[in-house]
Amino acid sequence: MIPFSTVILAAGEGTRMRSALPKVLHDVGGLPLVGHVLKAAQGAGSAQITVVIGPEHDAVATLVSGLDPAARFVKQTERLGTGHAVRMARASFDQSPDPVVVLLGDAPLISAATVAAMIDQLAHGADIAVVGFEAADPTGYGRLLTEGDTLLAIREHKDASHAERAITLCNSGVIGFGAGVLTRLIDRIGNANAKGEYYLTDAIELAQADGGRVTYTIAPEAEVQGVNDRAQLARAEAQFQALRRDDWMAAGVTLKDPTTVYFSFDTALGRDVVIEPHVVFGPGVVVEEGAVIHAFSHIEGAHVGPGASVGPFARLRPGADLGPHAKVGNFVEVKNAQIGAGAKLPHLSYVGDAKIGARANLGAGTITCNYDGVNKFETVVGADAFIGSNSSLVAPVTIGEGAYVGSGSVITRDVEPGALALGRARQDNKPGYAARIRARAEALKKARKG
Ligand code: UD1
Ligand code: CA
Repeated sequence: MIPFSTVILAAGEGTRMRSALPKVLHDVGGLPLVGHVLKAAQGAGSAQITVVIGPEHDAVATLVSGLDPAARFVKQTERLGTGHAVRMARASFDQSPDPVVVLLGDAPLISAATVAAMIDQLAHGADIAVVGFEAADPTGYGRLLTEGDTLLAIREHKDASHAERAITLCNSGVIGFGAGVLTRLIDRIGNANAKGEYYLTDAIELAQADGGRVTYTIAPEAEVQGVNDRAQLARAEAQFQALRRDDWMAAGVTLKDPTTVYFSFDTALGRDVVIEPHVVFGPGVVVEEGAVIHAFSHIEGAHVGPGASVGPFARLRPGADLGPHAKVGNFVEVKNAQIGAGAKLPHLSYVGDAKIGARANLGAGTITCNYDGVNKFETVVGADAFIGSNSSLVAPVTIGEGAYVGSGSVITRDVEPGALALGRARQDNKPGYAARIRARAEALKKARKG
């Protein structure tokens, strides 16, 4: 692999999104569009990445810097075309001994492999290499005018003749330039065309006129589809999810009904994980080998240990950390809590800001009262403790190892290891009183009618 740098074009206004957010910050699989493009460049081994952003798009720079602290930014204040946008990034390539790859910030599904295949053509002596695709509907795209494996020119849709418009082989917008090629050509690109824009794609004809070698590769259309409106955003999401489902099944994960499971870009699953229908993964989830995620569960920012069982209808929020073979059952919410190995929260619980020891059992309806409206407090439940159903553990509070909390307790003080805690009113039975109570009620009913 030869070294190369990347320029990502992301200055577009994205007006068709009708959004307060810059287009490239909209999410696919929990990661903004431009983040996906950045990852493809990184994955292909890009040494340096420069992003061309719009004048009011500092939020794009913030996001990208978080993913790649070494990324550089240039602003394109006037949107005069892709050739003009690349010209703004001149400092990134003028003195560089490496090839430059141009990627579009709104085409999130480009793969590192496609970028690498294109770089390979530059490594083999091409001055320019373009990633093309066969368009189901080529309307609006630049057409590749080819002769064998040589690319003669790219004709933008608006400038194409009737015959040229019949061509379905199109420009994906991903273009690689050999070292020094952009510096030689970029200022020679003019704007005498149907749109009055500086077309980066004019570089192909200029290189040909100089006797340069221009080639192309072909990528699947699904991988190069761009996002210009919300419908295309949904299509990109669907395509992304389809790829992830196939990847995870290939990696040894069972998906009972793949199309109903939604992954995040960073979801990590171990071998023999089983995922039932209708499960949604937010960002930051790791599920280890052999764990089962039952139907209708929502999981984000959580770690699920090996052999653990989650759901059905469970919600794991950030900081949920389930040990090996732990069980979080139906209608249970866990937030910022360590659940020890083999511990069980089988039904109807809220466990937040807590440490639950190994093999502890929280009965149905156990609630950690972690919040006083201002501050959050911790609940600690020792190993092998048993919390009776419908108990409230008012934090900060510690239940010792092996302790037993009677059902329906409100626990406000620490419980020593091995102790029984009863935090509820004592039961009082009055023999024969039922008839008296009933008679009193009947009398009241009569009096009200009268
Ligand atoms: C471009 C290509 C076309 C290709 C298509 C693939 C040119 C002239 N045309 O057309 O051959 O088939 O992409 O989708 O390159 N941008 C800027 N600054 C600008 C203009 C554009 O940053 O001044 C960015 C946009 O944010 C966008 C990308 O460049 O990410 C493409 O620009 P756009 O105007 O959408 O080009 P197309 O007409 O779609
Ligand atoms: Ca476009």
